[in-house]
Amino acid sequence: MRAGKPRVGLITGGCGGIGAALCRRLAADGLTLAVIDRDTASAEALAGSLPGSGHIGLGADVADEAAVETTFQAAEARLGPVDVLVTAAGVLMLRPDGSRNPIAETPLVEWQRTMDINAQGTFLFARAYASRITAPRPGGRVVTISSVAAQLGGYRSSSAYIASKAAVIGLTKGLARELAPFGVTANSVAPGLIDAPMLRLSLDPAQDAQAAANIPLGRIGTPEDVAGAVSYLVSDDASYVTGNTIDVNGGYRMQ
Ligand SMILES: NC(=O)c1ccc[n+]([C@@H]2O[C@H](COP(=O)([O-])OP(=O)(O)OC[C@H]3O[C@@H](n4cnc5c(N)ncnc54)[C@H](O)[C@@H]3O)[C@@H](O)[C@H]2O)c1
Repeated sequence: MRAGKPRVGLITGGCGGIGAALCRRLAADGLTLAVIDRDTASAEALAGSLPGSGHIGLGADVADEAAVETTFQAAEARLGPVDVLVTAAGVLMLRPDGSRNPIAETPLVEWQRTMDINAQGTFLFARAYASRITAPRPGGRVVTISSVAAQLGGYRSSSAYIASKAAVIGLTKGLARELAPFGVTANSVAPGLIDAPMLRLSLDPAQDAQAAANIPLGRIGTPEDVAGAVSYLVSDDASYVTGNTIDVNGGYRMQ
């Protein structure tokens, strides 16, 4: 790690249920953060609520190539080089009643928007980060947020979502291989059922006990469970861990 100066982290989707927990944890770990989300005011408010000082919030659509580059440059101009990238922005498009479209009925626009945000959004930030790694970067880390849906086929998600999160896992492995010569690791965290807004699109809290019955650890996960795994992956302790997908799912799926 760089001695003296706190590492700079950039987190996409930082205003979401899981994203905000990631921001709180990484700020408490001592990183200075650029919080990225769709809405500038929300990102600034979240950044201002974090422990420590110097955090900033920036609004951007992660699917927009030009906006991603502008945002990355703005973060660097204010905080310095980005050491840690965490990509948590994502969408799950369901029908109004919370059910999924079967493939046979999936509109192309649903497929494209899901891929644009989940897969392309992760790619664009990964590319912006990787293009700046031209020399060894001690403490350099990328953590992508994928999903157990990519591994299981998903019970509560659409096939577009499943495919987009599978793309995230593959991209992360490619990134791990390319950034390894610079001492930078890249890993993915695959959450299971987490008590955060995306799960609540399809699971009413009244159904939690029934859902938890299929989880060996017997409960729905929390955003802080995901944050703990991300905190580990960006720490010194994980400097020899790369190209992995870390499951945070209570044993819902075991490899
Ligand atoms: N909640 C779960 O059970 C669960 C399980 C597995 C994976 N995940 C993943 O974890 C991440 C966070 O999920 P969550 O449950 O906290 O949902 P959430 O909806 O609270 O968080 C998603 C965040 O991404 C932001 N976002 C969406 N599209 C964006 C865009 N185009 N540009 C910028 N920001 C955008 C949203 O504004 C929001 O803040 C997602 O990537 C999701 O796929 C969630």
